[in-house]
Amino acid sequence: MKKGIPNHIAVIMDGNGRWAKARHLPRAFGHRKGAEALRELLKSAIEIGIPYMTFYSFSSENWNRPQSEINDIMGLLRRYLQSELATFHKAGIRLKVIGDRSRLADDIVLLIEDAERQTLNNDKLTVVMALSYGGRQEIVEAAQRIANQVKSGSLNPDQITENVFEQELYTRDIPDPDLLIRTSGEMRISNFLLWQLAYSEMVFVEKNWPDFSKNDLLTAIGEYQKRDRRYGSAAETA
Ligand code: FPP
Repeated sequence: MKKGIPNHIAVIMDGNGRWAKARHLPRAFGHRKGAEALRELLKSAIEIGIPYMTFYSFSSENWNRPQSEINDIMGLLRRYLQSELATFHKAGIRLKVIGDRSRLADDIVLLIEDAERQTLNNDKLTVVMALSYGGRQEIVEAAQRIANQVKSGSLNPDQITENVFEQELYTRDIPDPDLLIRTSGEMRISNFLLWQLAYSEMVFVEKNWPDFSKNDLLTAIGEYQKRDRRYGSAAETA
């Protein structure tokens, strides 16, 4: 059966630093270009009619980068949330942020809460931003919440199913990605959506993130449509 447009595409936006280095520019410049590429890609996603997109914007491991680079990315995020919100809203984008908010600056958390509240009823495109996000940590926290329910007597261990577990993840109301795209030629998941990517197709693109365009998105979707997705069962044509 031929596949249509994916319902949910997850993206690891990698290679901002290498993009800048190749041009003898500071890494911050690469992140700025990366943020511009993100803005353009959201427009393309709406034009193509993709309902959900998740972007790995800042991983829990990214906190180990030099403080100056963390400040650059957080500054970019702050400006992005302030300057793009009206545009997002007008375009019908619903914003949702997943990750450990306790490590983010208070004013950024307020901007996120405000953006999520304002865009809650938009239905053109749901944009999930993974910020201070780590897949293992997400699973551990879900396990802790489930353990507490068992401890308090509201849940029996034999009632712990995949569906019950999923309800404790950040992504409880978001369908699993059909397609993962990673730019910059790296072929790793890097602690991104470990549970949710179980059956996703993966497409790895050589270009660095700032150069990733609508055409590249369409090419990745074309590659996805050629794949035979079987969820572990036998091929239809076998
Ligand atoms: C990966 O490139 C990119 C990041 C770690 C940050 C992602 C940030 C953006 C795309 C800017 C958009 C921002 C927000 C938060 C709205 P890299 O730095 O790992 O590149 P490298 O592997 O070439 O060094």
